[in-house]
Formats: sequence, C-alpha cells, structure tokens
Amino acid sequence: MNSSYDVAIIGTGRVGLPLALAFADRGLKVLGVDHDPHILEAVRAGRMPFEEPGALEVLERVSAAGSIAWSDRVADAAAARHVVTTLGTPSFSHIEIDLSQIRSVLDELLPHLQAGQSLTLRSTIAPRTTEFVAGYLAKHRDFVVGQDIFVAHAPERIAAGKFFDEIVSLPCIVGGVGERSGEVVGELFSIFGARIVQTTPVQAELAKIWTNILRYATFALPNLLMMDCEQYDANVFVVFELINRDYPRGGMAQPGFTAGTCLRKDFAFSEERSNAPGMLLAVSRVNESVPLFLVEGMKRRLGSLSGVKVAVLGLAFKSATDDERDSLAHKLVRLLERELADVAIHDPWVVGPTLSLADAVADAAAVVVATNHPEFCTAEALQAIAAGAREDALVVDPWDCWDAGQVFAYAAELTALTALAETV
Ligand SMILES: NC(=O)c1ccc[n+]([C@@H]2O[C@H](COP(=O)([O-])OP(=O)(O)OC[C@H]3O[C@@H](n4cnc5c(N)ncnc54)[C@H](O)[C@@H]3O)[C@@H](O)[C@H]2O)c1
Repeated sequence: MNSSYDVAIIGTGRVGLPLALAFADRGLKVLGVDHDPHILEAVRAGRMPFEEPGALEVLERVSAAGSIAWSDRVADAAAARHVVTTLGTPSFSHIEIDLSQIRSVLDELLPHLQAGQSLTLRSTIAPRTTEFVAGYLAKHRDFVVGQDIFVAHAPERIAAGKFFDEIVSLPCIVGGVGERSGEVVGELFSIFGARIVQTTPVQAELAKIWTNILRYATFALPNLLMMDCEQYDANVFVVFELINRDYPRGGMAQPGFTAGTCLRKDFAFSEERSNAPGMLLAVSRVNESVPLFLVEGMKRRLGSLSGVKVAVLGLAFKSATDDERDSLAHKLVRLLERELADVAIHDPWVVGPTLSLADAVADAAAVVVATNHPEFCTAEALQAIAAGAREDALVVDPWDCWDAGQVFAYAAELTALTALAETV
C-alpha cells in the first residue's frame, strides 16, 4: 500500500505521545492524532503537555526534522501503514471495561482502512477485546484479519516517567490475531531494540492486566498490615523488619497510597468475569481505605480536626510525577475537608498552583506526606516542617520518608526526627 505515514498514533496522552515521539526519533514518518485541543496546541508550539523525562528534547528534535505531524481527525490516521491506538480505557463503576473511546475510533477508521494496514491496541484492555476488535473489522469490512489487515495487542507496560529508558529495554509483548498480525506488529515495535515476545492476544491482555494486579495486591498487604498494627498498638515498620530481615523467601513491600489511573481500574478488567468475584475488590478496598485510616488516626491523636490546620504534602498519585489522576491524595484532602479541617497543600510537581512548603506547613497541627516525592524525603524538608509547623504537630508518614519508622510521629518524636535530620 501507498502510505503518507509509517505510523499513526491515535490518542497522544501520557502513553501515546512519548510513543509517537520515540517512533519519530527513529526516523519513521509519524502522525499523532488527538481530539484534545490543549495537547495539539502544546506540541505544535514545541511544549510538552505533561512531564515525561527526556520527551521535550525529542519533541524539539523530531519537530525540527519534520518527522512528526499532528491532526485532530481520526480518519487521517488511515493514511498510515501502521495505526496504533493509545486511547483511554476506564472502567465503569459497576465493574466493566468502558470501550467507548476504542469503539468510537474504530467506527471513524472503518470506512478508510485498507488492506495491508496494521492496527495495534496499545491500551490496557479486558480479556478478549483484541478478538472483538478483529471481529468488528471482519464483520464490517470483510477483511481476513491476519492476511488482509493485521490486528494485535501490544500492551504498554512502561511506567510514566520512565518511558525513554524502558521502551528500549522492557520486553514488548505482542499478541497478534490470525496468521501474520503478530509478525507485522512485532516488526514495527522491533525498531526500539527491546525483545519482542510473541503470544496469543488473550495471553497478552492477561499478562498486562495481571502485571498491574500483582502490584496492586503487593501494596495492599503492607497497607492492611499497617492498619492492623494500629489496632494492636504495634509498630508496622518493626513488624516489616521482623518479616523481611534475612528471610530468604520474598519480602513485604512498603505501605503508602496505592492508586493512580492504571492500578485503580485495571483490576476491574479481570473482575468483570472473575472466578473469585470480590477477591480483587477486597484488595481495592484495602488500598482505598488508607486515606481514611490516616484521617481517623489523626483524630484519635488530635481530637476533632474542625478548624485545625493540616498540611498535605503531595497531590500526584505517585512519586516524581505531575500526574494527579486517580490520586489518593485527593481523597485524603476531601476526607479532611469533610472533617472541617483547614487543608493546606504543597506539591512541587503538579501543574495547578499549590502553596510553598513553608506556607503549607506554617503553624500546621498536622503534616501528612501523601506522596513520597524525592523533595520530601530530605533532611531539608524535615527541617522546614520542624521549623514551621506547631511544636506539637503530628507528622503522618506512611511512606517512612525519613527512616523514622513511625506512621504517626508525636510531638516529642518530631524533635527527635529533626535531630536525626541534622545528622544526615
Ligand atoms: N499512564 C500510564 O502510565 C499507563 C501505563 C501503561 C498503560 N496505560 C494504559 O494506556 C492507555 C492510555 O492511557 P493514558 O494514561 O495515556 O491515557 P490519556 O487519557 O492520557 O490518553 C488518551 C488520549 O486519547 C485521546 N482520545 C480519546 N478519545 C479520542 C478520540 N476519539 N479521538 C482522538 N483522541 C482521543 C484523549 O484526548 C487522550 O489524550 C490506557 O488504557 C491506560 O490504562 C497507561
């Protein structure tokens, strides 16, 4: 086929934009498609619409080389030899994948697709979605998938913030439909040099979902143990040490806020038709309970939070990112507001304005580390808290940012922490 572009990426969000840039940086002619005018306006002006280390330099390079173009029309993607969709796949609250973005793009593409093209689903999807998409093309366009047109799932497993390191190193799973889809899509992604692992579409879907389920459940265990320890008046960090030290068969992860746009919903794609319905919902309930656990712990120590200043450090869903989507820090803030606390927020990463660290902690009765950003886990940050917050302020740190080994540090311990900080 005669194509104007080598590859079109539909959905140039957190996953799609770095991928489009990476393809263009390897000399492919790329079209990035998105219907969000803010994204297109930013990239056309040479700005990244969000933080991704290394992306801005690549954007500048590929824009100057003329190897990338932008469009808001899905139909334009049909001028590419390879089409990769990196659309959002949220879940409905009643446990079902929301395929509306994929369905709508498919319908727009359908009349324009030609024999010889490939369609790769890069989004995280429920088992059998790739087969559904292939069936949809076959039903509406009479293509023999795997011969006339190629459909595969090549799930994105790279963590935001690590794209350019991991695209060249993380094995790329490819689950192709029919005879040649895996081969064609594997060849496209082989440009990055990472190992291509061919499998069936449903195994690729399951591998991606369960990569995230593993992480979600891995963090639910220490989170549950943290809450149990409070019930038994035990120190969770001491118990972790007892579990992990010199034990040769695995170990317990650290507690913290576990959510974000992927972990919070991807388990639902398994839960849709689970053989143990509810098991992963319980995992989700544990992780979702952590903000309330911290608020209740603060109330147990400080009494009513009404009119009490509480500083929240971090709004991003995880360390070293500006991504606030599905962050439990927001849930914490909402819960504190419902206690009528005076909430003061500081996050040096997120785009929206927040207070400076000094202003956020000034005269605070409690300081909660909601995100373990690297800036917070420093002696300087601890000193700023000790200097600015009330003398008897409660420091709440489920991440154990300062190796103090206390989820809730009392006033006396705050001074001890400061002494520790001075020796660091
Ligand atoms: N963010 C991550 O770290 C990450 C990691 C691995 C996998 N994933 C998965 O990758 C997929 C994409 O995630 P994301 O974080 O990049 O989402 P995102 O919301 O940042 O990106 C999706 C983009 O698609 C665009 N879009 C939606 N419908 C469109 C349409 N009809 N036409 C044109 N553009 C359209 C949106 O405007 C948006 O920019 C999801 O399935 C997610 O679960 C995300």
